[in-house]
Amino acid sequence: MHPFEYAAPETLAEALALLREHGAEAKVLAGGQSLVPLLNYRLARPRLVVDINGLPLAGVRVDNGSLQLGALTRHHELEELPEIARSAPLLPEVARLIGNVRVRSLGTVGGSLAHADPAAELPMAVVALDARLTLASASGSRTVPARDFFTGYLSTALAPDELLTAIEVPVTLGMGWAVEEFARRAGDFAVVAVAAGVSLDRRGRVDDARLALGGVADRPVRATAAEDVLRGQEPSAERLARAAEVVRERLDPQSDAFASGAYRRLLAGVLTRRALTRAVTSAGGSAPLPKPPPGRAPADSGSPRASDALRLRTPTPALEARSLQGAGRKGLMINGRARDVDVRPGQTLLEVLRDTLGIFDVKEGCGEGICGACTVLLDGRPVSSCLTLAAAARGRALLTVSGLEREGGLHPLQEAFVRHGGVQCGFCTPGMLLTTLAFLERHPRPSRDAIRTALEGNLCRCTGYAKILDAVLAYARGDDGDG
Ligand SMILES: Cc1cc2nc3c(=O)[nH]c(=O)nc-3n(C[C@H](O)[C@H](O)[C@H](O)COP(=O)(O)OP(=O)(O)OC[C@H]3O[C@@H](n4cnc5c(N)ncnc54)[C@H](O)[C@@H]3O)c2cc1C
Ligand code: FES
Ligand code: FES
Repeated sequence: MHPFEYAAPETLAEALALLREHGAEAKVLAGGQSLVPLLNYRLARPRLVVDINGLPLAGVRVDNGSLQLGALTRHHELEELPEIARSAPLLPEVARLIGNVRVRSLGTVGGSLAHADPAAELPMAVVALDARLTLASASGSRTVPARDFFTGYLSTALAPDELLTAIEVPVTLGMGWAVEEFARRAGDFAVVAVAAGVSLDRRGRVDDARLALGGVADRPVRATAAEDVLRGQEPSAERLARAAEVVRERLDPQSDAFASGAYRRLLAGVLTRRALTRAVTSAGGSAPLPKPPPGRAPADSGSPRASDALRLRTPTPALEARSLQGAGRKGLMINGRARDVDVRPGQTLLEVLRDTLGIFDVKEGCGEGICGACTVLLDGRPVSSCLTLAAAARGRALLTVSGLEREGGLHPLQEAFVRHGGVQCGFCTPGMLLTTLAFLERHPRPSRDAIRTALEGNLCRCTGYAKILDAVLAYARGDDGDG
């Protein structure tokens, strides 16, 4: 990494003063899931990184008919918080499609919008939702409609001294929403994504319609002409197909290494029809449901119950880790032990764990947040240590797989992996174990499909996954005396 200074201001005024002073030479760090890869590859070479994670920008509230999201709202909160699901049901749907579980642990709404990848889900969603964004600088703040915020490829209306602080989403009660996307692999950015919203009047005709697309231009696109084709009309299969045709006709996407422009246009039409069909159904209409997209299982199949005590009788250190504060702002708290370690601003957590502290149960695979080999739990949530700055992890609780040890023995989940043949070379195993435990803590009674979805961001080149799923399911059910 290119050397840089690191500042972690504690107030908004301090952060804005730093941005004012350093302008384009400063880079804001939120979740780091786009910025750290850029720093790793030296595609960004800031003089100063301003870590905004200590600022009070994380709240979520519903006020006067709108949902207010602080810029530091994490992707996983979009998936999990009931007030978001009630006020803007599109947001949990799109959040589930973002990257993998580790990206969603740290990545923020503000970071995703400021990064402005044209294939990203949240920029498309805020354009569909008619959201308004608050941008603050040392000289005051202004509000920009989402549609005007994105100005080109990875470009926005943000000035170098401005911070995106909040996102206001009008509540759309009674509107059915759906998102459809095509990606090459689970967790990849979409090749094309479509968000659709439909509300119906008393006669079952379309009252309002929203359509936005990602991956088809240099910024998210709102398909207003296709919306007009729908308003006031019955949402018949023919009408939805006509709207999809209008979407297709008006696009001229670029070709790239992943897909030709012609293929993207084709996808845009197909996905628009599917998204509209589901949106009409969820608005209470009767459009025929298309086949569900493959491979995305709901994350949860039940909430904690008394009978889950069986599985949880081995305390998961993640549960304990959250209460540990002992490392202060300087050191690292690893597996319940405070470690006093000097951290350079440009060092990733993976480098410090392996190279400085010799904790080799954290593996290095891709170095890009994709494979999951470097997973650690940070305050109980899985993160890619290769995409986490060590400086940003100070004072927080870290768990690596060696922290699972109980009285010198294996954790019952590890025993289940051994018994079911879920371990061969073992390279992916620490990440699989930690991701599984964090998942089971929140979803104690998962189905096999839900486990598959939870682990889809952890790659294994040996076992073929079936045995890993067997092991997790057996442990979760308390079979074989595992749990
Ligand atoms: C393996 C992998 C897969 C991914 N897949 C997807 C995907 O499928 N879909 C998707 O949408 N995204 C995906 N992402 C990106 C992810 O969503 C990021 O979290 C997001 O793009 C950036 O959010 P962040 O909070 O991590 O921001 P950071 O990485 O911290 O910052 C990103 C940029 O925004 C700026 N910035 C951040 N916050 C602010 C702010 N409040 N005000 C002003 N500027 C700010 C930073 O300076 C930086 O330039 C993926 C990332 C990885 C590593
Ligand atoms: S995800 Fe960090 S090394 Fe692959
Ligand atoms: S056991 Fe070898 S990579 Fe998974």
